[in-house]
Amino acid sequence: MRPLLSLRALSITPIAVFHLPLALGAGGSCEPSKSTSIARSEAETWGTINPSKDLIWHSCYQETGIFECARLQVPLDYAEPGGRQAAIALIRKPATTREGYRGPVLFNPGGPGDSGVNMILSSADDLATILGPQFDIVSFDPRGIARSTPRANHFDMDVERVLFGTLSGPSPWIEDGVVTGIERVWAQSQLLGALAASHDDGYLEHITTENTASDMLRIVQAHGEEKLQYWGFSYGSILGATFAALYPDKVERMVLDGVADAEDYYATAWLNSLTDSEKTLQLFFDHCAEAGPANCPFYSLTPSDIQGNIIALQDKLIAEPIAVRTDTYYGIVDHSTLHFNLFISLYSPFASFKPLANALAQLAAGNGTALLSLLGEPVPYTCSCDEHAHDWDPLPEAFATVLCNDGAEVSGSLKDLQDYWNELAGVSQFADYWGTIHAGCVGWPKNKKPFHGPFVGDTSHPILLIGNTADPVTPLSSAKKMASGFKNSVVLTIDAGGHTSLGAPSVCAHQHVWQYFQNGSLPGQGTVCDPIIKNSFLVPASPEGNVMARGLGNGDEDAKLLAAVTRMVRKFKPTSIIPRISKRGL
Ligand SMILES: *[C@@H]1O[C@H](CO)[C@@H](O)[C@H](O)[C@H]1NC(C)=O
Ligand SMILES: *[C@@H]1O[C@H](CO)[C@@H](O)[C@H](O)[C@H]1NC(C)=O
Repeated sequence: MRPLLSLRALSITPIAVFHLPLALGAGGSCEPSKSTSIARSEAETWGTINPSKDLIWHSCYQETGIFECARLQVPLDYAEPGGRQAAIALIRKPATTREGYRGPVLFNPGGPGDSGVNMILSSADDLATILGPQFDIVSFDPRGIARSTPRANHFDMDVERVLFGTLSGPSPWIEDGVVTGIERVWAQSQLLGALAASHDDGYLEHITTENTASDMLRIVQAHGEEKLQYWGFSYGSILGATFAALYPDKVERMVLDGVADAEDYYATAWLNSLTDSEKTLQLFFDHCAEAGPANCPFYSLTPSDIQGNIIALQDKLIAEPIAVRTDTYYGIVDHSTLHFNLFISLYSPFASFKPLANALAQLAAGNGTALLSLLGEPVPYTCSCDEHAHDWDPLPEAFATVLCNDGAEVSGSLKDLQDYWNELAGVSQFADYWGTIHAGCVGWPKNKKPFHGPFVGDTSHPILLIGNTADPVTPLSSAKKMASGFKNSVVLTIDAGGHTSLGAPSVCAHQHVWQYFQNGSLPGQGTVCDPIIKNSFLVPASPEGNVMARGLGNGDEDAKLLAAVTRMVRKFKPTSIIPRISKRGL
């Protein structure tokens, strides 16, 4: 297909400067705001727990649910166990039954750089519904991230981070298969590397997935268990595969969901991610045409008509961007805003296709508000008189820190970057955006001993891998490749578009996950699950309601499972490996 045009206004982390909150200008005052009161309670939660070598749980976040928090002390450098220490921030929702207690299951939400604490805060109840009440639902902010210290932080002041984003010029875009406009990204990336190095007091090189895998073993042992039970999404599949490669005899249960190719990741190549992204986009065209005008607001008679209408919108926006101002924020909708929204909608067609079609229809009528609002409401940046107000916030630089530290060194040559990006453009039209991941490591301080695998092992229990037939960023082929290294592992396929099992809700798939955690049994090789609904434009307003559940056969249990899965799908849009748009107005 003719590539749709590309995304602009990206900085290298990469973060998009898309829209700004109206309250930005008011942030200089010392008035307490909502975000500073959240920051205060974070400080009260984490700042008052002393890191310890044993897991000492403290009740926390009681307004949100029944949670316990702990800070586990681990060596910053495992080669020097007596040297400087790191503190891993953990949270758990304890098992609700002691009868048949099955120990902790650890979760990783992806990223890299995403907060496991946040995942548990938003989804612990649903995860417990999916797995059963006998498990502790546990996660943690991986080392270097959010509430785990030392934290990856390349700036002296928060406002400097905000301003750094504004240095980026127009983002790269693809013209006749050639990526143009990468020079500024290349230069800004060197700046970021220099800032990372100048804020490094010796911690930086230890923020790696290999070390996080060792931290997971410590966490399990501190729980009094010998082996790991784990469910990792997206980048969490890299973390899981790294653990399995290092400690094959410590695997009790491992689900890798939305599986990335670990060799490609550790090579800092990112060339195998997007092989199915056009396939996912094609589902938008096909399903919209099939659903009809009553269900798809951007309907046209054939899929290629719909595709053509999107390209026409892109062309129109190149000529004439649209200014948008709402009561709370403002921004500019241009062709890159559109291209980016197309891309992120692919993570969860179930949750995103219908709102996207609605936004496109409004855009066709000259109104860009709905499209801009798909990016979410920007949170106003507030200066605080308390310099420690943001000490426990997730920071966007965690993303590049983990992946650049993990990966092979990226060439500093502009020509090499150009060649790389052109190669990626041959994989997918979304290369304009995706290339910024690799580019973000240009100028990164050299990692002395990156991990190389091999990603093979005879694990003490076989691994369950989950892949979707049209996953935009972790194609099924990567799940199959990773499975080939681990003895007796099984790939469970979900025949749907979207990223991870949370991007493509399937009762069948989650029943297999439940079964696997309950008694260790794996689905047969080659098992394919259907999603709860094939065409995302036909999702009823309340899929967890009776109508759907009745069609699924097994009554109450399935209805509860379905409700949990669909709630999670809606919260996790889009799920990780994608560089998120910062919620702080960046
Ligand atoms: C644009 O659409 C939004 C809803 O997305 C609506 O609130 C607004 O009034 C519309 N603006 C114009 C000028 O029609
Ligand atoms: C696990 O449970 C399923 C169904 O309940 C059963 O078919 C299977 O044989 C069990 N496997 C083991 C290893 O107990």
